[in-house]
Amino acid sequence: MASKKFSTLILAAGKGSRMKSDLPKVLHKACGESLLFFVMRAAKTAGTSSIITVLGFGRELVEKEIESEPTASAVYQPEQKGTGNAVEVALSSLPDGPILIVNGDGPLIQKETIQKMLDSHFSSSADLTLGVAHVSNPFGYGRVITKDNQLLRIVEEKDATNEERKISLINGGIYLVNKNYLQKTIPNLKPSKVSGEIYLTDIVAMGASAGAKLQYCELDFTDLLGVNDLLQLSQVEEILRKRILETHQKNGVRIENPSTVWIEAGVECGIGTKIEQSVSLKGRTRIAANCTIGTGSVIYNSELSDEVEVLPYCVIDRATILTKAVLGPYARIRPETKILKSAKIGNFVEIKKTTIGEGSKVNHLSYVGDAQIGSGVNIGCGFVACNYDGFQKHITQIDDGAFIGSGVEAVAPIQIGKNSYVATGSTLTKNVPEDALAIARTKQENKEGYAPKIKSRLNTKKAKG
Ligand code: UD1
Ligand code: CA
Repeated sequence: MASKKFSTLILAAGKGSRMKSDLPKVLHKACGESLLFFVMRAAKTAGTSSIITVLGFGRELVEKEIESEPTASAVYQPEQKGTGNAVEVALSSLPDGPILIVNGDGPLIQKETIQKMLDSHFSSSADLTLGVAHVSNPFGYGRVITKDNQLLRIVEEKDATNEERKISLINGGIYLVNKNYLQKTIPNLKPSKVSGEIYLTDIVAMGASAGAKLQYCELDFTDLLGVNDLLQLSQVEEILRKRILETHQKNGVRIENPSTVWIEAGVECGIGTKIEQSVSLKGRTRIAANCTIGTGSVIYNSELSDEVEVLPYCVIDRATILTKAVLGPYARIRPETKILKSAKIGNFVEIKKTTIGEGSKVNHLSYVGDAQIGSGVNIGCGFVACNYDGFQKHITQIDDGAFIGSGVEAVAPIQIGKNSYVATGSTLTKNVPEDALAIARTKQENKEGYAPKIKSRLNTKKAKG
């Protein structure tokens, strides 16, 4: 079989007025990524040599989105006169050979969908292969008119007669067309008499009357679903969500109660990892092998090495957690935090912009912000790194092997030396040298037999009101 070299043209200029939003339609997100991301990913994994995107409404924003894709470039459609006009503005930028044209608002397209189209197109040497589907409710889609299985034309919903609207074969908005066929047809497109739009779909009727070799390829309707309003966006997103979970499950990730779990498209997850129910994994989070993510935890853009254990209800944001660390339950790990190997962060602990050294523990009710904590450090219950004076943030440094008793406040900037020992209840305002014992609290005074006296005095006061 001939080589299946092809380029991809994505039509993404439309505003999508039915989305009732100022965001360009293709930048609406499903499962954490833009609609355009999914279309570009499908084209790329199917082996496209290049991606050309037609941009219009909100062009600068969409350009930013395609910047991350090195094979993608953009052309500009100044006025959204219709899909035919979108192809016209791109025509001179298209390489020779087969062009896959796809709508940017169809994020469910998959590598396999494109491969099926390619197989069909290349094996029959067609000029044009149209992706179609039989559907029970064709409302809104272009209807495909055939005779004896030959493609004749496509009629848009708004232009169709009542009879034509009953046709259940729809245009999926996916085309494989040879560049020279586009050169022959596109410049001759005329606006629709009904809507005034220039329809790409009219290249089918043109080719049919000129005797071109046209064919259609039946695809799974699910892969063709277009997003035209916010309801369709959430329907498509639910399909994407299930697909993402299935991919992880097939790759060896155990997911408890999948209907409650949210994993975005950019998340990676290693073999043997267990995701408990009601977990959200977002952004570009990377979780390695054999981790556990406990019930109700939410992780954004973070990186977890092997065998990390996240107990229930933790929130982790832009942090790095190294192997065998244990977090939670109820820990909050904020941006720029690094938790090193085998460290333990317990319940109701907040860590921000801090490195916690290997094997160190902050087990209960503490705030550690802007700090450098060495290895083997033990921080007792209720520690506070007083990092902010109302104007600036200051650093707390606690060196290897230090022991910090419960209820300690460290007023930063401060350094607590190696293997030092800080007594419970201390408020530290100056550095603690290596191996020193620091006690910074007032001495206790006991007044023997004084409790009944104070109680009766207070009782009398209460009785008087
Ligand atoms: C289009 C097809 C319809 C098909 C359906 C499948 C046409 C005329 N109709 O209809 O037959 O069943 O897709 O989902 O093609 N766009 C531009 N520039 C424009 C207009 C649109 O780039 O001037 C882009 C849009 O941003 C969108 C895509 O083209 O990503 C499709 O446009 P849309 O208006 O959504 O077409 P549909 O009415 O869905
Ligand atoms: Ca559409």
